[in-house]
Amino acid sequence: MCGIVGYVGNKDCTEVLIDGLSKLEYRGYDSAGISVLENGCIRTVKAQGKLKNLEDKISAGECFKGTCGIGHTRWATHGEPSDINAHPHGNAILSIVHNGIIENYMDIKESLKNDGYTFESQTDTEIAAKLLDYYYKGDPVEAIIHVLGEVRGSFALGIVFKDFEDTIFAVRKESPLIVGVGDGENFIASDVPAILKYTKKYYLLESDELAILKKDSVEFLDLHRNTIEKEIQVADWDMEAAEKCGYEHFMLKEIHEQPNAIKNTLSPRIKNGLPYLDGCGLDDETLKNFNNIFIVACGTAMHAGVVGKYVIEELVRIPVTVDIASEFRYRNPIITEKDLVIIISQSGETADTLAALKLAKKQGAKTLAVVNVVGSSIAREADMVIYTHAGLEISVASTKAYSVQVAVMYLLAFKLALINDKITEDACRNYTNQLFEIPSVISAYLEEKEQLQFIASKLVNADSLLFIGRGLDYAMSMEGSLKLKEISYIHSEAYPAGELKHGTISLITENMPVIAVATQKSLFEKTISNIKEVKARGANVILLSSCDSKTKPGMMLLIIELTFLVQMICLCH
Ligand code: M6R
Repeated sequence: MCGIVGYVGNKDCTEVLIDGLSKLEYRGYDSAGISVLENGCIRTVKAQGKLKNLEDKISAGECFKGTCGIGHTRWATHGEPSDINAHPHGNAILSIVHNGIIENYMDIKESLKNDGYTFESQTDTEIAAKLLDYYYKGDPVEAIIHVLGEVRGSFALGIVFKDFEDTIFAVRKESPLIVGVGDGENFIASDVPAILKYTKKYYLLESDELAILKKDSVEFLDLHRNTIEKEIQVADWDMEAAEKCGYEHFMLKEIHEQPNAIKNTLSPRIKNGLPYLDGCGLDDETLKNFNNIFIVACGTAMHAGVVGKYVIEELVRIPVTVDIASEFRYRNPIITEKDLVIIISQSGETADTLAALKLAKKQGAKTLAVVNVVGSSIAREADMVIYTHAGLEISVASTKAYSVQVAVMYLLAFKLALINDKITEDACRNYTNQLFEIPSVISAYLEEKEQLQFIASKLVNADSLLFIGRGLDYAMSMEGSLKLKEISYIHSEAYPAGELKHGTISLITENMPVIAVATQKSLFEKTISNIKEVKARGANVILLSSCDSKTKPGMMLLIIELTFLVQMICLCH
């Protein structure tokens, strides 16, 4: 995922840009570059690979001094990772950095070619730079507005012009971009950690808003050049949140932050031992009368939604449909004003999820966002918001954000069940108490590092593996499988254990690892039968189970007696 940083002030801009980019490294990238305005010229340097390569190039002579510039870390989408495809793109007149995708770039390229433009990279970004050059006749705002009228897609742009040595221009459509406000210096960034060292104050740029930054001023315009007043935000994270604090990497740090994240999320939402959601705009009357619930999200957040479906349906007896946002928004879903659409997102900025939310609102449904980033687009757009308090999640691979999303799904299910008279107050109090025990259970479990390392050592050479489970165990397996793929690059699938025999079981080969999750008493025996099926075909089974039963088949690679998150998912059984 790409990262954008821009700086205008009195400091050595190269240093600030490199520092900001280093704070965005966690997003993953394959090349990086900066453009700095120096003595009336745009100086650009780019390098494939790590930021170190860019720094080496800079210290090997391509060094330049300036106080205004833009920088970028690129994750290749259009064209391979290379110096040429790295951002910034532009010419002697202007330079741009770009996050997101310009969907109609091929059409624009053809028309620019007819106007005599030539292209050296394979990127959609270069097309935006040339289009900007085409429209630029001395007025940057005019040119940017023209470009916005032509390009389609979701993107964020940071732009500098040779003729405007002390100015950064920024604009966005769906892809996130913030404008940081310092003392005698201002910033643009795709994410808060890039600027936290310098300032906690920032503005959220909205779609189709243009920001003009000088060192002492920031101005916002709409696409008709009207000035916009915006509310300043203050990040409630400190630098520590953006540092690894002794952990090897952010993901590990965030895994260890789960207990506190869950505590912080639940504490303000429990009153007299019962779920208390009034502060989120969810009064009992609003929550009572829905015909259907839709949960819409992407990736990990969607997996938390699948857990939500199982728990809400079990306790509340309202039909719940879980949708992948990028499918929901294009499938003409049947929703009405009698439905509740729950949108889950850590960042609150995911383009498909935001579009799904807007669609649901347009169709009259009530919308509830479960979001981690305060003031994010999704949080502002939804009718009601439950903020998760996971703190800053820097690792691209989500961990603590998932845990708090799942915790909120449970709390919401308890609340809905209580006000719809599906459970008694005592039962609800009991469930809520158990949920509140989860942080200490996780803390205890995180101590068991050696056992986890042992399992990892058994899996490290696998080409492919399966997660199997039923019901909530299947829901949790979906996230386990995503995490494994994302982090280890080992292929894996989560499969409903009972569905294996209908074809997929033919994939099981001698010694193939199968991670079986069996934590629900009511489904335990059934899953054990499925384990027997895969073992009969030679699979090496790792069983995650909290159920104590003599029916566990022998000869398993490892049995993990789980008392961890699974306790949470056993609540209803
Ligand atoms: O910020 P969001 O929760 O909307 O992001 C949605 C997904 O991109 C995200 O959950 C992704 O799947 C995880 N980071 C992967 O670990």
